[in-house]
Amino acid sequence: MCGIAGYIGKNCAEKQLLESLKLLEYRGYDSAGIAVQDKNKINITKTTGKIIALENMLTSTKSICGIAHTRWATHGAPTYENTHPHLSNDSTWAVVHNGIIENYGTIKKDLISKGYNFKSETDTEVIANLLQQQNSNDIHALINTCNMLIGSYALACINKNIPNKIFLARKKSPLYVASEQGEVFIASDPVCFLSKASEYYTLADNQYCIASTKHLEFFNTSGQKINLQPTKTEKFDISYQKHNYKHYMEKEINQVPAVLNNLIETYKSADLLKKFDKNYLAKFNKIVLIGCGTAYHAGLMGARYIQEFARIDASCHIASEYRYCNPIIDNKTLCILVSQSGETADTLAVCELAKAHGATTVALTNVLYSTLARMADEILPVCAGTEIAVASTKAYTAQITVLYMFAKQLQNVIANKKENYYEIVHKLAKKITIPSPKSLKKAVLEVLASEKVFFIGRDYDYVSVKEASLKLKEITYINTAEHPAGELKHGFLSLVDKNSVVFALATQQHLLNKTLNGAHEALARGAKVIMVSQFNIPKEQTQGFYHTVKLQKFSEELLPISCISFFQLLAYETSLAKGLNPDQPRNLAKSVTVE
Ligand code: G6P
Repeated sequence: MCGIAGYIGKNCAEKQLLESLKLLEYRGYDSAGIAVQDKNKINITKTTGKIIALENMLTSTKSICGIAHTRWATHGAPTYENTHPHLSNDSTWAVVHNGIIENYGTIKKDLISKGYNFKSETDTEVIANLLQQQNSNDIHALINTCNMLIGSYALACINKNIPNKIFLARKKSPLYVASEQGEVFIASDPVCFLSKASEYYTLADNQYCIASTKHLEFFNTSGQKINLQPTKTEKFDISYQKHNYKHYMEKEINQVPAVLNNLIETYKSADLLKKFDKNYLAKFNKIVLIGCGTAYHAGLMGARYIQEFARIDASCHIASEYRYCNPIIDNKTLCILVSQSGETADTLAVCELAKAHGATTVALTNVLYSTLARMADEILPVCAGTEIAVASTKAYTAQITVLYMFAKQLQNVIANKKENYYEIVHKLAKKITIPSPKSLKKAVLEVLASEKVFFIGRDYDYVSVKEASLKLKEITYINTAEHPAGELKHGFLSLVDKNSVVFALATQQHLLNKTLNGAHEALARGAKVIMVSQFNIPKEQTQGFYHTVKLQKFSEELLPISCISFFQLLAYETSLAKGLNPDQPRNLAKSVTVE
């Protein structure tokens, strides 16, 4: 959801900023731009399209100070004019922004009445002009500007008359800064300087900074200097190699066995679930799980596991809905916030809300330095390693595995059992295989030939098909939908005809016949049915089906963890067959840091 970066130092600013932008591209790739200080002026290079397009335009200059942006369009189409950085009318200030300014309309109207012109449709351009209006060269220019803004922002600003200094502000969007041996690195994600700095500072909401190679000065909203404590960088393990894979997504799906092993190792060695004991649980009367997108689906599966194994009231909600639905939440609520990135704005908002209501919060996140990890009372690490493809795959599998173990731990505590869930997952990790592209060919061809793609399933399988359907639509742009297999006659069947393909997932014995009924209802309306199951279904019951996919056999409660790779690869292979880039689907971003 937009990435911002800054650099001051001894090297070519454009080169350094470009490196950072490449690492931030997961946050949006609609357009990109760089502004550098060049004697007494600011030079801007920007373009629509991906960072590679910007790279082709840049020439090395002597500039050693600049800011940069990669955009995921919110206000204004992804055009050249709307591309950041934005300049103030007098070209004194250049600004890059991640976030949304909700009251930009009112501010813009006021500035226009004072004679200011606007070149873009963005909310950000008002910030550059508000800075100009302050007519000041110190931190108060930025503080006064921010005091007029309603919304979220991480801002990096340069002024043509203040050489080699970058002004920073943060509210509800991440912003990090590091200073090392005469160089300053600024970014929306510390991955940009992990290899370059031994420690970094995290700006909190309503904190400001003037960064220069001499020092990093931090301020509060009153303009008073404050001290921030740095975080060491060593603990991050980041891998950006694709190895022999064509895409990150393919690599990440295939990493699942290794991810599960690593997860077990991490949880077992530190017995991370031990703290959820009788005393701990006694405080709560319900568990609420929260997430967005794929993380929401992981939360749904977690809620089912908790209800099933521990018999505790557990439910999962979409963060953007939950935060505005006047939820019943108090100090007897355990709130688990599921987020790969730990930066999703709506999920963070629920975390804040839950804390304000006295709930205990747990961050189930893959990024241990994320805002969510810092905000929550407890952390359950996802241990999936860096996930780069926009569509989440291995993180989903790891999230539901952690939730499986968590639910088993609660069951052990509540029912006085001693089930060795580490051992169970360890065996799964040893046996699990990722389907080969060849085994998917028939299903892929059918998806490509169909106008509509539907997924049906019940209970666990309904959660899995929700994720299957999301994955396919995310990276193939095919209009897909998922339905509970018992609900087809209440609307869904009117959509089904001979141009439809229906994937029916059945992994729970007691629901197999029920889902088969649903599949036959679709078949009777002309759909091509692809049955997906680990069971040996008698031929008579699959007569007329287009294809049957046999899943690897595991216990029913582990099938949600093992079966999802089939659907992830189905999406991946279909995307490839359509000539798309599965790693960077249009209009989407990996980290959604705006509401
Ligand atoms: C975006 C990503 C999804 C992800 C969702 C939630 O939509 O494209 O892959 O599932 O955000 O992200 P989070 O980081 O909170 O899991």
